[in-house]
Amino acid sequence: MNRISIYIFSIIVLLASCRADDSVDTDIPPVAPCEPTPYSLELPPHFNRINYPIIPADNPMTIEGITLGKKLFFEKLLSKNNSISCGSCHAPAYAFNDKGMVSSLGVNGTQSIRNAMPLFNLAWTSVTSRRFNWHGSAGTLEEQALGPVRDPLEMQESWINVVSKLQSTSEYPQLFQKAFCTSEIDSNLVVKAIAQFERTLISGDSKYDRYFLETEEGIDLPGDYTPTAQERRGLEIYIAEGKGDCFHCHGTPFQILWSNNEFVNNGLDASPDSGLAQITKDPLDLGKFKTPSLRNLNWTAPYMHDGRFGTLEEVIEFYNSGIQSSSPNIDGSQKPRSLTAQDKADLLAFLNTLNDSSFVNNPAFRP
Ligand code: HEC
Ligand code: HEC
Repeated sequence: MNRISIYIFSIIVLLASCRADDSVDTDIPPVAPCEPTPYSLELPPHFNRINYPIIPADNPMTIEGITLGKKLFFEKLLSKNNSISCGSCHAPAYAFNDKGMVSSLGVNGTQSIRNAMPLFNLAWTSVTSRRFNWHGSAGTLEEQALGPVRDPLEMQESWINVVSKLQSTSEYPQLFQKAFCTSEIDSNLVVKAIAQFERTLISGDSKYDRYFLETEEGIDLPGDYTPTAQERRGLEIYIAEGKGDCFHCHGTPFQILWSNNEFVNNGLDASPDSGLAQITKDPLDLGKFKTPSLRNLNWTAPYMHDGRFGTLEEVIEFYNSGIQSSSPNIDGSQKPRSLTAQDKADLLAFLNTLNDSSFVNNPAFRP
């Protein structure tokens, strides 16, 4: 505060104390103003082609909130025996997926039911299905983050314990004070901070993104990102309805995310796992799972909700010859394809142009 504002502040305090009961203790030091610094998502230029994410009105993003959220994301106090953090199953170097595990290990090595999901571009789920997890069990990132802590197969801890552990540290109360203007920690504030951090995990800098920026946005970048002839053919196969026909669910180059974030049955099993129907109880949702993004596949093996395919070759062969047409609620676009060996190799080459190594190496996302 400069001298004039101190002067004005003193007059206000004086006036206020005149009006108040004379017994008010005037020795209480003035509380420092709490003003977390507002933060706007830093979007790659071509992301302006898709709708801006909806940030919940009761959880605006701030620098202090994101800093706290990142610390909490990598905080083992969130689990029983203080043994694992969110980052144990969602590792930054693996696009926030689980280091090649088919199903993740929780506290004491308990096995999760499903393959962990990579975490990036999650903020955009707010403008599409508004559902998180393979079977859509959470509606917001805040709500989602409540789950793993008390999940008996994951962090196996109660929120009461988590809050009291954090409260008794020397650092967390002041970090919550800075982010939320209160040093009284509660589970809602913990998940709000984590969600703020998660919304900053933006992946949009693959080879294909750079090519798109140059050709579609007219931005001149150092280096050459022109797709090879094979990668170009791979994209054609990806789009062609008579060939790969992948874009119905994973989007076109102009949809940027490489997923529609919707829930569909892509025909993995004749008698599928309940999927979204577990939540909605609607038989028409049986077998439907969240369409994953095709970004960063280099780091997210094994694939599908149960990690059944170890390689992308296996995934492509599934779409070519393994579709279970009798699967209930199978999407209308799903039929066996007739891809040649060359088509499959080209498609794979194209998928590899969506790997974003600046995202997985971004120091801002490391603990
Ligand atoms: C034991 C491993 C494990 C831990 C620990 C863990 N997760 Fe997960 N995470 C998973 C698995 C497995 C899934 C898929 C769950 C499902 O579909 O039921 C998942 C799904 C998610 C998703 C959904 C992504 C999407 O696209 O819908 C988010 C977000 C997420 N986790 C965030 C977190 C946060 C935040 C924490 C810490 C509070 C955390 N996870 C802790 C394994 C883990
Ligand atoms: C009808 C919608 C649909 C179409 C068309 C489609 N997919 Fe998928 N894809 C999905 C869904 C849904 C999943 C997740 C399914 C599950 O795990 O149960 C998925 C999963 C994947 C995965 C695994 C990603 C991961 O992180 O586990 C890859 C890779 C993939 N698809 C590639 C393709 C390719 C290549 C094509 C075209 C040949 C294609 N998809 C066509 C809906 C579709």
